[in-house]
Amino acid sequence: MSQFKKIPVFDIALGQKEKEYIKDCVDTSFIGQGPYVKKLEEKFSSFVDCKYGITTTSGTTALHLACASLGIKKNDQVLVSSSTNMACPFVIDYCGAIPIPIDIEKETWQLDVKKIEEKINKNTKAIMVVHLFGHPVDMDPVLEIAKKYKLKIIEDCAEAHGVEYKGKKVGSIGDIGAFSFFANKTITCGEGGIVTTNSQELAEKAKSLKNLAYGKVNKFMHDDIGFNYRLPNISAALGLGQFENIENVFLEKERIYNRYKKNLENVKGVNVPKVREWVTKYIMWVFNIYLDENFPISRDELTKKLKDNNIDTRDAFVPINQQKILIDKYKMFKEDDCPNANYIMDNGLYLPSGNTITNEEIDFVCDVIKKAS
Ligand SMILES: Cc1ncc(COP(=O)(O)O)c(C=O)c1O
Repeated sequence: MSQFKKIPVFDIALGQKEKEYIKDCVDTSFIGQGPYVKKLEEKFSSFVDCKYGITTTSGTTALHLACASLGIKKNDQVLVSSSTNMACPFVIDYCGAIPIPIDIEKETWQLDVKKIEEKINKNTKAIMVVHLFGHPVDMDPVLEIAKKYKLKIIEDCAEAHGVEYKGKKVGSIGDIGAFSFFANKTITCGEGGIVTTNSQELAEKAKSLKNLAYGKVNKFMHDDIGFNYRLPNISAALGLGQFENIENVFLEKERIYNRYKKNLENVKGVNVPKVREWVTKYIMWVFNIYLDENFPISRDELTKKLKDNNIDTRDAFVPINQQKILIDKYKMFKEDDCPNANYIMDNGLYLPSGNTITNEEIDFVCDVIKKAS
């Protein structure tokens, strides 16, 4: 049994600013819509080098709003990284379109851009790239392919706040980006999200759709079939307090990443995240590893050993190509379609990475892994 009570896979550090701003919402009664929403939109969008930011109620609704604003519709196909949160294929489905999984690179868990072109056909409308675990996708080839086939690019940046590809902030590279402010994300509103874009047309569409598409002339004669994805002021207040501390969060993440990396990079059979040459700013979301054939026990046996020592972990995603509901619904892909995503599903995990984890706790987690190696 460990000397630590329990090491959670994630925790949230909240500060004075968050308290102060939430108190202000209560004091002023602006708990629905109010000034913090606008402030968060302005600050966050400018932080990711976008002219427009449209907050929403979650990362999922931000992704859906992004797809809807691009006009993704029935029977369109959207190419998407296979290893991801199922919010990605689900929002494509909400639009009546079909998600087509593309395999990942084993080393980085990111979309393998070499595998995009073979899946393009006359119904392909967009590519949804997912900057997973704080590492950006190789965007130049994606931009080239999108131009060649006239496809739109949606960037899922749920796990990639502040991350840069060749000096460009993710969320500003494609046509439209979507971030999550869920409780386990780099900064949080509890629940929340934001759509980012440099296109005025897309921003106007997103703003309208998020708010039930109320009519511009007669409010109650609606312009479109809209949604209510409005982020409450009180949540935005929490998010703004978090945002104002984001550089400190990055420092904590750097500390955690460096400590794990130093401890684990020479352990036989353990693969630590590779950071590709195109990354100008990698901001670890959580510390992910995968085991290979040189590790003497399986991933499941290792997570059990960690659990026996009060250490919480999460397995890697079950990819899109493995999801029975999606396979049965579309009959467009099979379980063995994405071998690297399947390999990571069986051998990948992430380790406790909450901002308040101490160096001693990290060392302890690594000692348990080293003993098993
Ligand atoms: C890559 C990715 N996309 C989308 C989402 C959905 O975000 P949310 O949980 O805020 O709806 C998440 C996270 O939870 C995610 O990790």
